[in-house]
Order: sequence, then structure tokens, then C-alpha cells
Amino acid sequence: MEHPHDYALRMDKQYGLAARQTAYVFPQHKAQQALYFLGNSLGLPAREAQQVVYKITDEWAAHGVEGFFAAQPPWWDLETEAAAQLTPWLGAQPEEVAVLNSLTVNLHFLFLHFYKPTPQRFKIIVEEKAFPSDQYLVQSQLEFHGLTPEVALIEVPRKGHGWSTQDFLEVIEREGDTVALVFLGGVNYYNGQLLDLSTIAAAAQQQGALFGLDLAHAIGNVPLALHAWQVDFAAWCSYKYLNGGPGSIGGLFVHDKHLDKQGPALKGWWGVPKDKRFLMDPQFTAGASAAAWHQSTPSILALAPLLAALKVRNRLDPQAFFDEQKMLTDFLKQQLMPLTQQVNAPFEIITPSRHGAQLTLIFREKGKMIFDHLQAQGVYVDWREPNAIRLAPTALYNTFEEVYLLGQILAETLDHCLGRA
Ligand SMILES: Cc1ncc(COP(=O)(O)O)c(C=O)c1O
Repeated sequence: MEHPHDYALRMDKQYGLAARQTAYVFPQHKAQQALYFLGNSLGLPAREAQQVVYKITDEWAAHGVEGFFAAQPPWWDLETEAAAQLTPWLGAQPEEVAVLNSLTVNLHFLFLHFYKPTPQRFKIIVEEKAFPSDQYLVQSQLEFHGLTPEVALIEVPRKGHGWSTQDFLEVIEREGDTVALVFLGGVNYYNGQLLDLSTIAAAAQQQGALFGLDLAHAIGNVPLALHAWQVDFAAWCSYKYLNGGPGSIGGLFVHDKHLDKQGPALKGWWGVPKDKRFLMDPQFTAGASAAAWHQSTPSILALAPLLAALKVRNRLDPQAFFDEQKMLTDFLKQQLMPLTQQVNAPFEIITPSRHGAQLTLIFREKGKMIFDHLQAQGVYVDWREPNAIRLAPTALYNTFEEVYLLGQILAETLDHCLGRA
């Protein structure tokens, strides 16, 4: 049987993963490239993204405000280009995508447009233990409409470590025409589970409810077909799998069935098409596109590195990329499984079988100590109190060999921390 290290080297060569790394900048550990598995938290900078930040400040110095038109490409065009670069990763039509604001802000904005409770249809269905910001979002949106979570919020419970599609379907059917909105995280931030979005979307639509998504952990991580699934709206951040940079600019999707010249419920001048924006007309006019959702002047210093990162990503074919990413995470599982099968194994993998890049490990003992030892060895993974480590190798800039090394380092770290050495 092929040794896992030989397999890793062969796969890196076959798929060109080691060569791909040169487009990114890595943290260093003891003058060597660290092992970075945190694409689910903050993706690494593309080299071109680093350079473009200097380019923008140079253009700013050279042109002042004229940079909006005179820079190359004009700053004016960056938001449209970033949206166009994203469409293949969303399975969207070009007019359905806009790049603006940040995630929680965009979700509030979308809820204010789409969530219009009536005495008959007012409930929101979510997954239990969603990311806290989504919980606050939904609670405060209900309060904004004079409702309470007790009467209007239905949380589908997690059973064991994951959610079952069947549970969502049963709850949606049971609540029927009282459901205004089903709102889910596409990939759950904690256990890494990818929900069966197309099936749940169809069930919501059958009851006449809207279907919305938080794609923070899904975009760039798993294949999406938002248009075909008839998702009504979605929003995401771009600092994780899209490598946009810390706190970088987010985005939203509005299905074209909802796009009309009225634009969004809440409007701003940046939503007016470019050729009319400076006419300063007191009457808002919009094209029938998600671009009408823009409200404010975007941060060019945030847009430019995102666009650069997307251009690097778009050298890859999305489906081939997702296939490679799956092989990489499967290899990670293969490296970890023997460690979970030892007598008194210190951890288990709780990520359900449908997932993207991320795996979540739950430790029975000494989890924090193990995490600290990994960190001290230049291994970047993430610690969640009280007992979880999350890690996500991405085929953008991780290799099979790195995954192999991680398995070796983790095995040694367990021996060390558990006094087995
Ligand atoms: C699933 C999920 N939703 C929402 C957020 C909040 O994002 P933001 O701070 O950009 O609004 C995050 C942040 O990591 C997240 O992981």
C-alpha cells in the first residue's frame, strides 16, 4: 500500500497544489512557512492583494478623487467587477449579486426588505445554535416588528452533533402557512455541517415561505447554486474562504424574481445606476439588479484586495477546485481517524458526513493544552471553548503534504500532552 507521505507528494504534484501556494503569503514560524488551516476564519492574503493596497494609495495620492474615474481600473468599477467574479462561486446570475457593507449589516438590511410578518404568516425557522450574530439578528428583527422569539421563532434542534434534513422538513410542514421565512447558515460555523440546502429550500417554498441564507462558511467552500435552488436572498463575509482581508467587504444575493425597478426597501444614493448617480435627482431610480441594494460609497481599500484575491481564485475552475478540496479534507480525515480509534482516544471528529473544508474535533481531556502545543509548533488551528478545535485545509493554499505533517505533529503532541511519550 502507498505510504501516506508518498500519496501526499503525488497528489500535490498531480493537482499542482504546492505550486499554487506561491500566490499566497504565509505566516512564518521559526523562519519557515507555518501550517495554516484557518481558511474558515481568516483566509491568507494573495500576493496580488497585498500589492494592490499600495497601488490604491498611490492612485489616491496621484489622482485624489479623480481616482474613481482615472485609476486603472477606475475605482468606480471595482464593486461591479468583484460581483461578477463571485457569480460562479454562488451559482448566481450576474444581476443577482452585489458586493457591499458587511455580513450582519447586509442581513439586517435584507430582513428589513423581505421579512414582512402578517397576523397569519410571521414565524422564522432557524437552526438551533446558529452563529450568535444570527441569533441576535433574528431576535432583534422580531422585536423590531413587535414580536417575541417565544411566539415567532422556531429553532430546529441539533440531534447529537448535527442536524437532520428530515427534522427541517417536518418542522416546515408542521408550521405550514404560519412560516414567513426559513433562515439558515449554509455551512454551520461550529460543526462544519453542510445542510441540504436545495431540499430545505424546496420545502420552504412549498409552504409559501421565503428562504434566506448566511453563507459566511459556505461561499468559496462548497458548491452553491443559489439561482437554481430559488434561494430568495443570501449574504456573506469575504474574509474567510474568499481571502478578502480582515473585516473586508461583504456581499449579498437577491434572486432575480425579486429584482424590480423599485429597488430595496431602504435606499441610498449608491444604489442609483452610475450614469444617473451624479444627477442628484431627488427621486430614486434603480436598475433591476442587486446593485440597487448599494447604499453608500464602498471602501476602495477593502474592495481592491478582495477583487485581487477573487481574480487569483478565478484562475481555477470551481468544480475542479471543490473536488480537490474534498480530496484534501478526506485525506485529513484519514490522517485523524487512527488517532480517534486508539484506546482512550482523546478526541472525536464531530463533523457530519456532508461538509466542506472544515472538520471539528471535540476533546475529552486536555484540549486546550493540545491546542497550545500545536500553536507553539507553528500549526494554526482554532480553539472554541470549552473543548473544540476547528481546522480547515483549503485547496487554494494548503497541500496534501501539509495535511500529512499535521497528522504527524498531532500524533506527537497527543503523546506528549497525555504523557504517553
Ligand atoms: C456564520 C457567521 N455569521 C455571521 C458572522 C458575523 O460576521 P460579521 O462580523 O462580518 O457581520 C460570522 C463571523 O464570523 C459567521 O461566522
